[in-house]
Amino acid sequence: MLFFLFLGGTDLHRKNKDIHRDRRDFLMTKHLLSIFDLNDKEIWSLITSARKMKSHGRKGSQLAGKSLGLIFEKPSTRTSVSFSVAMYELGGFPLILDVKNMQWKRGETVQDTARVLSVYLHGVMFRALKHANVEEFANSSSIPVINGLTNKEHPCQILGDLLTIVERKNIKSAKELKKIKVTFVGDGNNVANSWIAAASILGFTFYLARPQEYDPDAEILEKGLSLAKKSGASINITDNINEALSNADVIYTDVWTSMGEESESSERDMDFKQYQVNSSLLAMAKKDCMVMHCLPAFRDKEITSEVMDGPNSVILEQAKNRLHIQKAVLLYLLKGKNRK
Ligand code: CP
Ligand code: NVA
Repeated sequence: MLFFLFLGGTDLHRKNKDIHRDRRDFLMTKHLLSIFDLNDKEIWSLITSARKMKSHGRKGSQLAGKSLGLIFEKPSTRTSVSFSVAMYELGGFPLILDVKNMQWKRGETVQDTARVLSVYLHGVMFRALKHANVEEFANSSSIPVINGLTNKEHPCQILGDLLTIVERKNIKSAKELKKIKVTFVGDGNNVANSWIAAASILGFTFYLARPQEYDPDAEILEKGLSLAKKSGASINITDNINEALSNADVIYTDVWTSMGEESESSERDMDFKQYQVNSSLLAMAKKDCMVMHCLPAFRDKEITSEVMDGPNSVILEQAKNRLHIQKAVLLYLLKGKNRK
């Protein structure tokens, strides 16, 4: 009897230790839900790491034995394929989870889903309808959670875009990056929000030219303006397209109607008419200004085909760099010392 009690006690002790270890994991896990989750050194190091991997050939085995779950509540082409291929090329396993077929959509809580997936996987990339869904998921996850786009932010997109800018402009240091001027023409949406966050951390100049009723997220702007005081960033929201584009190194645009806003599409088409990136707008920026778009694009709506396929466009390079930056992000979060 004593023998069994002793065994039971040891078992209980081990279980308690497991619970404590899990809690520690849970608290120490680093997620990428927002660009604000990174500092300037981390962003620069992700860019450097992606550049190195890009130049050293595509295959590696750094994530052998690791699995990444990919959850999509909205459609995706680039994010889905680049994360899957990135995992494969690093020796890991990508698992696309169809939300429609998960118990979660039948009422299992997001907390239980996150806890269970934490047992099987080493990381989760989540494209969510609402930013709060990703936050809620991460709060119950002891493995890293990566925001693959929400209504509020698209951090992986902006990291890839920074890689494209650094390569194209041959930027050698984070300090040099402070000198660029990025102008986003269009909706103050998730992509624009992540640009504001990036500018505020890295200290470059950012303009958003938008119709007045399409402001970026107020909370992100407030945080960005506060961080800008330290980093030296200049963050400007305006409806003066000319001023926004004057001397710009980058013209960036995105769809006028984001996923989930389809019912507002005709109204938005009217409101953004003056904000189409075309040859007249391009002429307002620097001659060698880079034209960027995160894609998917609605050709001849927010951007003309002429500009999209023209000599200033680096749009395809942006899509390509999603793969390389995802690798850097995955290595940082899944292989770092905060991982199991
Ligand atoms: N830019 C981007 O995230 O594209 P997808 O929606 O195709 O993933
Ligand atoms: N703003 C767009 C970005 C797509 C990658 C959307 O959310 O639909």
